[in-house]
Amino acid sequence: MNITLRQLRVFSAVARHLSFTRAAEELCLTQPAVSMQVKQLESQLDVSLFEHLGKKIYLTEMGREVYHYSRSVLQQLDELQGVLNSLKGLGKGKLKISVASTANYFIPVLLAGFCQRYPGVTVSLDVTNRETLLTQLAENEVDMVVMGQPPDDMDLGADPFMENPLVIVAPPEHPLAKDKKIPLQRLEQEVFLVREPGSGTRIAMERFFAQHDVHITTGMEVGSNEAIKQSVQAGLGLGLLSRDTVEMELALGRLVILNVSEFPIMRYWYVVHRQGKRLSMVAQTFKDYLLQESPSLLGKGEQKLPQARIREAHSA
Ligand code: PGA
Repeated sequence: MNITLRQLRVFSAVARHLSFTRAAEELCLTQPAVSMQVKQLESQLDVSLFEHLGKKIYLTEMGREVYHYSRSVLQQLDELQGVLNSLKGLGKGKLKISVASTANYFIPVLLAGFCQRYPGVTVSLDVTNRETLLTQLAENEVDMVVMGQPPDDMDLGADPFMENPLVIVAPPEHPLAKDKKIPLQRLEQEVFLVREPGSGTRIAMERFFAQHDVHITTGMEVGSNEAIKQSVQAGLGLGLLSRDTVEMELALGRLVILNVSEFPIMRYWYVVHRQGKRLSMVAQTFKDYLLQESPSLLGKGEQKLPQARIREAHSA
């Protein structure tokens, strides 16, 4: 077998996007150059990696296998580069992180501070929901992730670094907007907009109501925090969201937090990586930075963080 790393990189990009055009854009290559690399890889391995059905392309079974191995080869090489950089004591390197979509409301500010302090570091940031984060950890695709409570059934190192209260939001004209200590059972008369399956916020919401034996009515299923906020403002129902996502709407008076007993649901933000993963110097420095400085950089008051990590089941 005489394949090259370049072929693997190009093939992985096509397989990730399932598109030659988008892979070419990402790699700053022309589309014929991308097709050529994939063809050469196919001929070296003597297999077809993609099949074309209509305008779409799909990985063949062999393509899926090659994708699985090429990701791990490329990840190992990135890790090697990180370790070598640390040994050389370079102030530069690459940080590859993924964060829960809800964490996107504060992570860019923290990254900006980090990149200012370490200008030689290049960051690759992916924003996705909890379920995808867990797959990325399992596949060792990232240095670390930022998420709500990590699951119990994976071998993970997880450190809490900030509170993440979940609140119920309503439009300011909602009949409950001015009430105090609204009993939990009163929520059974309301309709809730919910995030998509796989969202950590949704899992926490369902668990909380089940634990308190409250049977809420769910209305529309909405795939992002932004869309939930818009739908709540439009009067389509109540939303249960991380407080971090609604700062602006609260300040502008577009949404209010309902004063419901037992609320907020207190969750925490964790920085999580695979147990035993050898963090590069850049990744370790970023982790320390999150743990020590995030609340103060974000202007949050004193935080009460759990001593040990609170675990929750992967699929619960
Ligand atoms: P989500 O994650 O954006 O997937 O809802 C947030 C969390 O895990 O708390």
